[in-house]
Amino acid sequence: MSEFVYPEVGTFNNLEASVGARGMGKTTWQLARAHQLQRESGGYVIGHSLGARLTTKLPKELGGHELPIKYHTTLASLERGLRNSPGKWHILAPPLAADGNAVSAGEALATADALLQFSARLSTSIRKNAWKRRNPLRFWNSNVSMEGVRCPPVIVLIDEGIAIESAGISRKEENRWFLQFLYSLRHYHIALLYAIQDGSARSWRVLEQATRIFVFKIRHEWALQCMRAAGATKEEIDEIRNLEKYEHVEIDALDVKSLEEESAGEMPGEDENPGDDHT
Ligand SMILES: Nc1ncnc2c1ncn2[C@@H]1O[C@H](COP(=O)(O)OP(=O)(O)OP(=O)(O)O)[C@@H](O)[C@H]1O
Ligand SMILES: [Mg+2]
Repeated sequence: MSEFVYPEVGTFNNLEASVGARGMGKTTWQLARAHQLQRESGGYVIGHSLGARLTTKLPKELGGHELPIKYHTTLASLERGLRNSPGKWHILAPPLAADGNAVSAGEALATADALLQFSARLSTSIRKNAWKRRNPLRFWNSNVSMEGVRCPPVIVLIDEGIAIESAGISRKEENRWFLQFLYSLRHYHIALLYAIQDGSARSWRVLEQATRIFVFKIRHEWALQCMRAAGATKEEIDEIRNLEKYEHVEIDALDVKSLEEESAGEMPGEDENPGDDHT
């Protein structure tokens, strides 16, 4: 067992994006980051994967650790799995027609959005329980101060950013939820690790909010231009163009502070599903 104290709520600030062309090592790197963050924080790991199975053993260069990954095709199964084996990594992986599964076109698949909403509910119940332990005689509400409250964070892996429907540009309501979720990650005590292939409109909000941006090899000019817009310097763009497979550079993330202030500490879904309390 590694040594850790649970981080204090409000101080765990990790929105990490990995960007790059297919097969350059983005997902593997995020798995390595999730492993590291879990070691540092004692957090739970949950995730969403579109089809492709995740590596269960990190490459030697990234530590060679075994990853305790368990797949679920539904959120209900994931939730049960997490209760029964909280130390395992529970990954929502809907059965895809492309993998030879019988999936009808009209069937709703378990989306990454549903997983994000679940992560918000989970984190709320964890924080609430931790707060109650510190304040046994007081009543909890969503405005109480979390100062000094320590508890395990939730580490959320999104293997393919395109799986988040509300990150799209034309879905107003869900869009608002997703934006608020991004602004509030730190208060939620959630780390979001997010892999995408380019920095186009769909992923822009995430890049804009990211605390760390890891860029793997990119060849397409327009995708490179997106990284330029996300703050990469000309020198970094040349470096990105010439990276070897599995190599990355970390570019400076934008200043997220002003955006975070816009959310005025409002938390999406904080009062949703009160019956879902894990007490
Ligand atoms: N640092 C590394 N050392 C050795 N092998 C690696 C490394 N990173 C990734 N790989 C291997 O390369 C393959 C592709 O990696 P990965 O799935 O992480 O890429 P990706 O960028 O997420 O691709 P995609 O865009 O298809 O999702 C995997 O089989 C993985 O095991
Ligand atoms: Mg991948």
